Amino acid sequence: MSKDSSFDLLEVQTASLTQATAKIENRTPKSSIIRGPYLQQGTDSSIIIRWATNIPAQGSVLYGTEPHKLLFKATETAITCDHTVKLQELESDTKYYYAIATSAEVTQSSEDNFFVTAPKQPKPTRIWVVGDSGRGNDIAAQVRDGYLKFTGTRHTDLWLMLGDNAYDTGTWDEYQQGVFEMYPQILRNSVLWTAIGNHDAGSASSEWQTGPYYELFNPPTQGEAGGVPSGTAAYYSFDYGNIHFICLDSYGSDRASTGAMLTWAAEDAAESDKDWQIAFWHHPPYTKGSHDSDTEIELIEMRERALPVLEAAGVDLVLSGHSHSYERSYLIDGHYGTSDTFTLQMMQDRGSGQEDNSGAYQKPSDAAHTGTVYIVAGTSARADEVSPHPAMHTSLSIPGSLVLDVQEKRLDVTFVDDLGEVQDYFTMKKG
Ligand SMILES: [Fe+2]
Repeated sequence: MSKDSSFDLLEVQTASLTQATAKIENRTPKSSIIRGPYLQQGTDSSIIIRWATNIPAQGSVLYGTEPHKLLFKATETAITCDHTVKLQELESDTKYYYAIATSAEVTQSSEDNFFVTAPKQPKPTRIWVVGDSGRGNDIAAQVRDGYLKFTGTRHTDLWLMLGDNAYDTGTWDEYQQGVFEMYPQILRNSVLWTAIGNHDAGSASSEWQTGPYYELFNPPTQGEAGGVPSGTAAYYSFDYGNIHFICLDSYGSDRASTGAMLTWAAEDAAESDKDWQIAFWHHPPYTKGSHDSDTEIELIEMRERALPVLEAAGVDLVLSGHSHSYERSYLIDGHYGTSDTFTLQMMQDRGSGQEDNSGAYQKPSDAAHTGTVYIVAGTSARADEVSPHPAMHTSLSIPGSLVLDVQEKRLDVTFVDDLGEVQDYFTMKKG
């Protein structure tokens, strides 16, 4: 035997051993869930359940209205690590339990795995809102726990992220830390609706709808959850009971008045016949916090171009982040210039909106230019200094999050700090 052929034999033996080891490992794969489960695009008859596994597999969701009788099953067609299962033909306003599985093996189930489909009729609704939450830090955890203490056993019907969901550049790892490891419990049983911020856009393209932000979330693009189809995941709308939500992209999409986004928004907001219209996006039209709405282009353009469209459609509430402050306006209309052009005539109500103080804000049903409240809620992971803006009733530098409670023609807004204490509140009534 030549020297060369003995080396060949050794190589063959080594290769066989490696293959045998691989076969043994393949027989006992350790499948684990590395992201989720989390809920997307909830409607009154459908929902999307997402999760990710470390090894590719075919995903299934078992579901039913009793926790230990998951009688229904939906299976995805692809073999993948990134699982997306849409459940359809569901009853409205109904609690379903679910388990996620790969191949035949149930990999995750618990009594925390449930969702409640959206109602067709008005229903008391609790909405949680976080802004600039994506730092994966102690403050974000405290703000989360403050809200959980505040809400107690009251289920969160849906929740909003106002952008900068993952610092510093919206990568997969940053989304893992800032979102999926920070909010595992609420992701599992409340549908999350997100807006894109400038930090998320560090790794995502609104034009091409690529990158972690666009790959992780499934907002409706074809009007699946109500509203006019936007044709893009960058901005979209949806209904929940008697509330219409409009999400805009203040960063990566064209903000021109005649552009696709604001043309769509005008049509969408005008067509809605819901009692309440709530719009949200990242860059605030009014702020004197860590950003200044008098000098920064995204903020100026959203104020000058989006606000006239939304106020004409009677939008009630606009939520933003970007500044790491809590700033809450009076009930105002028609303020599209810099802060030094704000006048008392722009105030539809010069009070606090607090029932135990100057009274709730009152609006007629579905009337154009009858007042909007603008809120910056960007302190869910950090609070920076803030100065007064003349449109603002309250300006605070306190870590916290926002709670919206809608009950028929009444909307209660509460700013809850990181200890679960109420730091601001007001009420708006319709009709
Ligand atoms: Fe931002």
